[in-house]
Amino acid sequence: MTTPIPLVIDTDPGIDDALAILLALASPEVDLRLVTTVHGNVELAQTTDNALRVLHLAGRADVPVAAGAAASLVHAQPERAGHVHGTAGLGGVQLPPSPAGTDPRPAVVALAELLLSSPDPVTVAAIGPLTNIALLLRVFPEAAARIGRLVVMGGSAARGGNVTAAAEFNVWADPEAAQAVLGSTLPTVLVGLDVTLPTVLDEHDIARFAAAGPIGAQAAAILQQYLEHARRSYGTTGVVVHDALALTEAIIPGTLDTVRRHVVVDTGLGAGRGQTLVDRRTVSTAPTAVEVAERVDSAAAVEFLVTRLSGLDGRPR
Ligand code: RIB
Ligand code: CA
Repeated sequence: MTTPIPLVIDTDPGIDDALAILLALASPEVDLRLVTTVHGNVELAQTTDNALRVLHLAGRADVPVAAGAAASLVHAQPERAGHVHGTAGLGGVQLPPSPAGTDPRPAVVALAELLLSSPDPVTVAAIGPLTNIALLLRVFPEAAARIGRLVVMGGSAARGGNVTAAAEFNVWADPEAAQAVLGSTLPTVLVGLDVTLPTVLDEHDIARFAAAGPIGAQAAAILQQYLEHARRSYGTTGVVVHDALALTEAIIPGTLDTVRRHVVVDTGLGAGRGQTLVDRRTVSTAPTAVEVAERVDSAAAVEFLVTRLSGLDGRPR
């Protein structure tokens, strides 16, 4: 067994964020050292409380949770995603409150201290708006430079948007932050709609981990609102757990086929705001190039997620 990769998850729980956090806790390849929360699906206070409750659900209230940005860098996010994730962000499921409190440090400080003190490269999985990561780059550039890998759930190369015709939600929620991050030299993998949308959990997949035990059952319950939203909005009978696919790439590097591309974010105020313009004409050799995920074995990714979530109930805590 190789040494687990130190992992930080920056997140806006959020139904698929919850599944992603549980997936990390079910995976011996990573050691979840810190969760930082950010505004996004719902307000910061709610994303922070949700992160605490999800960790407690899996018996991991020991993992520190530090709250970050309550708003995007420049322009306010036009709306939250309560209609998708439920007003409290976990699909209407009320998880037991955590006995743990929020880490007293601001997220950016907690993240910088961890990065500066870790002897091993740290993987950061950013699965919400990129406000905290952009602030880390500005306030603690020497800490940001110590990120081993940044795996971002966000954007789209050729699949348009989900919150608007042009923009994926995380980038749309803070385009200026996304541009600061995707235009930096951080070693970034971009897990966008091109690979998340084809990777669908169906009701049979969900039933498998629902039957595994209380944690799996709660994870399945959290997904129900997502299922109903997908059925109502897209007429589909499955759910896309975007953030869980990003965590799969963080846990098993190379899960996704990536190509180094130049990426620019539309930070204008027009209809294209939040669009990720991925230059697929060439493979980029620029230091600011982003490893853009372009192909996925969706069946294998679904099997990995279901198997790992099913194993949570039996894991030592
Ligand atoms: O577009 C999908 C992303 O937006 C996911 O991170 C989901 O949690 C929402 O925040
Ligand atoms: Ca998210």
